[in-house]
Amino acid sequence: MKERETGSLLAALRRAATLHRLYGSSHPLTGVALADAAREADVLAEGQPVQLTVLDESIYLDRTLLPMASLTHGGFLRTMHDRGLRSVTFLPPVAMADLSRLTAALAGEALEPAGAGSVRLNQDNLAADDLEESGDGRRVAYTATLDLLRAVSLAVSERERVSLLDTAAAVRSLVDLCLDDPSAALLLSTMKSHHEYTFFHSVNTCILTLMIGRMTGLDRADQLLLGMGALLHDIGKVGVSPAVLQHPGRLSPEQWAEIRIHPQVGAESILTASEPGQEVVAVVALEHHARYDGSGYPNLLYFEEPPEHTDGYSRQHPLHLFSRLTAVADGYDALTSRRSYRRAESPARALRVLLSDAGTVYDPDVVHAFIDIMGEFPPGSVLRLQRGEVVLVDQPAPDADGPVPALLVVDAAGRKLARPEPRSFLPGEVAGYLTPDRAGVDPALILEQVGASPDD
Ligand SMILES: [Fe+2]
Repeated sequence: MKERETGSLLAALRRAATLHRLYGSSHPLTGVALADAAREADVLAEGQPVQLTVLDESIYLDRTLLPMASLTHGGFLRTMHDRGLRSVTFLPPVAMADLSRLTAALAGEALEPAGAGSVRLNQDNLAADDLEESGDGRRVAYTATLDLLRAVSLAVSERERVSLLDTAAAVRSLVDLCLDDPSAALLLSTMKSHHEYTFFHSVNTCILTLMIGRMTGLDRADQLLLGMGALLHDIGKVGVSPAVLQHPGRLSPEQWAEIRIHPQVGAESILTASEPGQEVVAVVALEHHARYDGSGYPNLLYFEEPPEHTDGYSRQHPLHLFSRLTAVADGYDALTSRRSYRRAESPARALRVLLSDAGTVYDPDVVHAFIDIMGEFPPGSVLRLQRGEVVLVDQPAPDADGPVPALLVVDAAGRKLARPEPRSFLPGEVAGYLTPDRAGVDPALILEQVGASPDD
């Protein structure tokens, strides 16, 4: 599977289509972008014809679903679909002139079906039924939840009433996933998108929160409310401008004020729903940054009137259990994600940060429960072993000192494996930690490659 190459090609096509639209087809910048896209198409094709098919906001390379490219380029795939583009066949070497017909169509010009040349549009589409069979239930739960979040965000930004019924349906499938296949759920929670950070972050936070909820013995009804709170915790960010959310440096007081209001906006939006359980879901949104010791925002400390002859003291309104669980999952996913202002931390380092903030930012009991779930080498960890091999941890280790189940992705000679192989390791073999970004490893893709059993 060539997930990364397809992602690069889609990114190049997006850029070319935008420049085509803004500056015209003959502008030198459009030419540079087209040349990039042609080069990416040739890298993807490796001398053989390849076909990309768009179906339901998912993209397939020949018959193989590409989950990560589908998730990160969802909006662009919808545009392709809306413009009538169902498939693109590349016959290398790809000529820029042929490619410009595609970017013209993407830029909104009339679609000219191309029957000849090195880029053919809508030719010999693979049957949709054929492709749908290769879908993966786990990814579907994840993408359906992302779609739901996009819809809820739109409702919030347009000041419409939020529906918690739809949210409950999406969360139910994530609850099932966490209960039935916790390892797959944990690995799935390592999916990242810099582009749509808040959406991916919300789904990941939901999965991780549910994993902690599972350990604390919550019943299913509570799990559902917990999952809804975790999924919607950042919904108030819809009101924060993207420039502030992605600001690379120190924030000005005005920008901080904009950020600090998102728990309040989120809680208000959730309360527009008139469905059972909305209060506790809104409480999670309101409290998720308040911090265990009350030093966060919004300020939930209050001053208690002193009894006679004593000094008064401030009291922290005790945070709801669901808020304390969500805060830990939120913190972990945020730390392990790349942001415009800092790089992603390795899972092990993120756990150390949580531990050092236990008792101040986070409830220490929840941090310890979370560390127990994740183990020393959390799923999604990419590690270099002493012999030079690179492995991806795909499951929590069954016991602390024993072998850790993992997948070999790069062998001792530095060769990347086309299909990862099981390779457990002992803690003493670890030479260093890598981030998936740096190691060029895509946990979601690997899950797709090794996770699908024949009866899936
Ligand atoms: Fe937040």
